[in-house]
Formats: sequence, C-alpha cells, structure tokens
Amino acid sequence: MTMPRSSRLLAVLAAGAALLLPAATLAASKVRVGLMLPYTGTYAGLGNNITNGFKLFVEENGGKLGGSEVEYFTVDDESDPAKAPDNASKLIKRDKVDVLVGTVHSGVAMAMAKVARDNNSLLINPNAGAAELTGALCSPNHFRTSFTMWQSSHTMGKVAAAQGKKTAVTFTWGYAAGNEAVEAFKEGFEAAGGKVVKAMTLPFPQVEFQSYLTEIAALKPDMVFSFFSGGGARKYLADYAAAGLKAKIPLYGPGFLTEGVLDGSEAAQGVQTTLHYADGLDNAKDKAFRAAYLKAFKAEPDVFSVQGYDAAQLLAAGLAAVKGDTSKRKEMIAAMEGARLESPRGKMSLSKAHNPVNDIYLRKVEGKLNKMVNVAAPALADPARGCKM
Ligand code: BEZ
Repeated sequence: MTMPRSSRLLAVLAAGAALLLPAATLAASKVRVGLMLPYTGTYAGLGNNITNGFKLFVEENGGKLGGSEVEYFTVDDESDPAKAPDNASKLIKRDKVDVLVGTVHSGVAMAMAKVARDNNSLLINPNAGAAELTGALCSPNHFRTSFTMWQSSHTMGKVAAAQGKKTAVTFTWGYAAGNEAVEAFKEGFEAAGGKVVKAMTLPFPQVEFQSYLTEIAALKPDMVFSFFSGGGARKYLADYAAAGLKAKIPLYGPGFLTEGVLDGSEAAQGVQTTLHYADGLDNAKDKAFRAAYLKAFKAEPDVFSVQGYDAAQLLAAGLAAVKGDTSKRKEMIAAMEGARLESPRGKMSLSKAHNPVNDIYLRKVEGKLNKMVNVAAPALADPARGCKM
C-alpha cells in the first residue's frame, strides 16, 4: 500500500525531528518514584531499611522496574502527620512522581492517602498498618505490601491465651497503630478467655516509660502486651529489663517491638512476638534475599526491608504490564492485583482490599534473632472492615 503524499511528508519530518532530539528524550521515559519515608527520628531505621529493600530489588533488575529506568524523589516525612499533606503534595505536584511510596507512621500514611486520593495518584504503602487504609479509605490506587495491625496483634491475643495467660496490661504509643494493636490483641485475648485489666498509653514518640513500668509492677498481670518500634522499642526493651520486670512479667507484642533493634543483649532475650516475617524461615527466596541484602548494605535485613523489596516487586509487575506507560492506570492496577510476588516472607497474595494475605509467625528472641517458633495463623487476611471496592 502506498502512502498519500501528505503522510509521506509527515513521516519524513518526524524522522528528521527525531534525529535532532537528544538521546535521553528518545529513550523510554523513566518512572518517577516518590519515596516519602522517615529518615530522622525514632522511625529512621525503618525508613532506611524500606528504602534499602526497594533499591535492592531495582538493582537486582539492572536498575530498572518492569523495564523502566527509575528516578527517585525523596522526602523525609519525619513521622509528622502535620507535615504530611504538604510533603505528599510536593512529590505529586512539584516533582510529578508517577507513584508515591510511603510510609511508616499510620497518621502520616492516612494524610498521604487522602492527598493521593484527591490527586488520583498511585500509592504503595510499604509499612503503615492502620486498618482504615485498606478499610474505609481503601481505593483501587492504594496497595499495601506490609500488614494491618490487626493481623499480628489479634493473633498474639490468641497465642497468649493458649499459653495460659489470664490477665494482661497493654502499654503503647497512643496513636492509630498502637491503639489498633491493643484493640486487636484485646479482641483475640478476651475471646479466648483472657482479660485486659489495664490499658496504658503515652504520646508518640515519647520514651519516658518509668512511671508506667512502676504501675505495671504494682498491678502484677500475667503478661504485658506492647506496641513500640524503632528507637523507642530499643529503649523500652532496655527499660523493661532494667526495672526488674523481665523475669517476673513476660513481655509480648506484635513483632515490631523486637524487629531491627536486637543487639544480642540480655534485655530482649525470650520476648515473644507475632509477625509476617521471622529469622530462620525455610524458603529459598528468603535465603537469597538475605545474602544479597547483607552483601549490598553490610547489614541484616528485617521485616521493613522485606516490605520495601515487595513494594518494588509489585510496582515492577504493574510497569511491565504497560511497558512503562503509567497513563494506562487501569491495566497497571489489574496487573498489580493479579501479581504473584515471591516474597522473602513466604507465600503472599493480595486481598480484594489490596492488603497482604500471609502467614503470621510466632517468634522468640534468641541472641540477635527473632527465631521462628511456628506458624501461628496461616494465610491470614485482614477483615477489611468498611472497604467498599
Ligand atoms: C505504624 O504507624 O503503622 C507503624 C509504625 C511502626 C511499625 C509498625 C507500624
């Protein structure tokens, strides 16, 4: 078939113009990834490990995600909910990112999710566990590669009751993540015959634990259930032991309490936690992941590294399906929903609300490790209360 003269002229002009364009413009455009995570404050270690996990996956794939080169835009969200709308808006409007990846703190994540919703932005959440994010705030544009607080804490309620504990004091930072951890623990514990005799909170990110520990000693419960994480958890474990409580009142929690903070010291030994990751998992993917992470960062990975790695894997699946054309949002979302990720945590799929369905492990601190004890809740899905999608 011969081309009409006008089309031939256009084709010649287009070819000529292409020759004049710089090579970078001609290459497939890069995917712009906005990392909004804490790099300072009590959750800095978590933000860094999520970033490392994400970048490890990219490096393992030749610096690309689903065939597209990656350009990073990074914001330290300081785990400060008040700064979150501004931080998220800057990444979307100023940096024009194709996807937001964040964050750790549930209060920040909820503000971020609202900005993402208002701007129709794709958001991958590699940590924050508030139920609302895959509950009432759920959205086709939001994916979580981590957990809800309910998954680990409800499981721990059942585990502690099965171990014969009858009374518990709960103690946490009083914000969404801590409050939901405690509610879920209570739900599981009391349904199995236990009783929460006192619920105590202190504001995030305060770490003046002493007066609360004195009260716990006086109450003499069978156990304490606590959510703290990062730098705050490290200090809490040390203070709990220093107050002489460790030998008398066993400490339990969701795995964040002992994740990424173990230095082998006596303070944390024997603490039992529940989480979707553990040391000593018997799967080939985890072994390869841990070796590669250690080589790249000269440090052992933790659950936060895994969640960052899986966020990158999930995004890669979406980008591969649209050959990097992020304007094909519907196709991209469909590919992410159907992705079968090989996660270091073991088997994982995504629920209809875009939250991981995975095993919850019981772990016990031994040396510097959160040693896997058993699978406490196989293939556990969050109830996704309030999600209409
Ligand atoms: C949260 O705020 O959702 C959170 C923070 C640290 C560890 C786990 C959850």
